[in-house]
Amino acid sequence: MKMIPVKSSKGNYKICVGQALLPKTGALVSGVFSPGVRLMIVSQKNLAPYLKTIAASLSKKGFEVHSHTLPDGEIAKSGAELFRLSRALLAKGFERRDGIVAVGGGVVSDLAGFAASVYLRGIRYVNVATTLLAQVDSSIGGKTAIDLQEGKNLVGSFWPPALVISDVQTLRSLPLRELSASLGEVIKYGVIRDPALFRFLEQSGKKILRKDLAAIEKVVLACARIKAGVVSRDEFETKGERAILNYGHTFAHGIEGSLEYQGLVHGEAVAIGMMMAAQLAADLDLCDEALPWRQMKLLVATKLPVSIKRFNLKADAILKTMMKDKKKSQGTLRFVLPRRIGQVTIEKNIPLEKVRRILRLAGAK
Ligand SMILES: NC(=O)c1ccc[n+]([C@@H]2O[C@H](COP(=O)([O-])OP(=O)(O)OC[C@H]3O[C@@H](n4cnc5c(N)ncnc54)[C@H](O)[C@@H]3O)[C@@H](O)[C@H]2O)c1
Ligand SMILES: [Zn+2]
Repeated sequence: MKMIPVKSSKGNYKICVGQALLPKTGALVSGVFSPGVRLMIVSQKNLAPYLKTIAASLSKKGFEVHSHTLPDGEIAKSGAELFRLSRALLAKGFERRDGIVAVGGGVVSDLAGFAASVYLRGIRYVNVATTLLAQVDSSIGGKTAIDLQEGKNLVGSFWPPALVISDVQTLRSLPLRELSASLGEVIKYGVIRDPALFRFLEQSGKKILRKDLAAIEKVVLACARIKAGVVSRDEFETKGERAILNYGHTFAHGIEGSLEYQGLVHGEAVAIGMMMAAQLAADLDLCDEALPWRQMKLLVATKLPVSIKRFNLKADAILKTMMKDKKKSQGTLRFVLPRRIGQVTIEKNIPLEKVRRILRLAGAK
């Protein structure tokens, strides 16, 4: 097992990455919670096969274990589920010293983390990350949120976990589409920071899709280290550095919003968004023409989409959604654009005509 430290103003924490970690949950959690406290395991039915091991390991270390099941899908990130979990905590007598153990992907940790940040004005929580996306991204950095009808992640908090446990063996049961979609975010880390990771993905993409755990563990470690470093230096996204994690996301949010979150999962939208960003960078002469091609080859090899042709979307509709995105600053669109594999810069004031051209090139009307 490898441990990656993360700095946070609300308390530093560690990410544990490895295999066969679930039977050690109790021992790992003992490092951050006192024995005897109550712990609420928050999860979903897909995670049922792992819960017995986790609960038994926690009980053995003297924790009082309870459990709470969320519905599957983004629908779990709602006010109704926040209140249902809060009431469940209250009914079991949870106090400030007690905690939550979120077992699942980004949906579970976003909702459970947000509940932890507001229940009794804040209790602590642990993320047991069970999707590739959660292990490389959402379990790290303390962003928690629920959705509103008006948009995703509009109500939330910065509330870092007390510990993250990423056992790559749990990815064995993850549906292939989820694995492949998460690779969109993994490739993102390669482009923004890590040429060696990018090359490794070019060589080992197939192995990863076959769920070779040694290859996956290497990738999780590389990405978790990058994310841990970025959020340690720029916890609240105020210094510019954390914003580079949004590579491909300005376009992706425009596409997802225009599709009303149907038809593409997030990582797939990010893949298309990265294609658009790389093409935009090449158009603006910020990078070599070869970069978008190389990136496209890798995205296609990892079974990710690179165009929106099949969706019949209008460029202006996507642009309008992009302008509404909360990640724009002071009314202007910001793009994270690649200079070379491993290096990106943040660019503002890009002519909308250029952006429209890129959207059309990728298949918008
Ligand atoms: N907080 C952050 O920093 C951050 C970053 C990125 C994304 N997110 C959020 O994360 C969410 C997406 O997370 P996700 O991609 O992990 O999706 P998810 O949490 O919805 O999980 C995907 C599906 O896989 C199932 N699942 C999870 N682990 C499994 C396993 N080991 N075996 C079998 N099935 C399993 C889940 O039950 C679900 O059906 C979005 O809501 C997004 O907004 C948050
Ligand atoms: Zn993302």
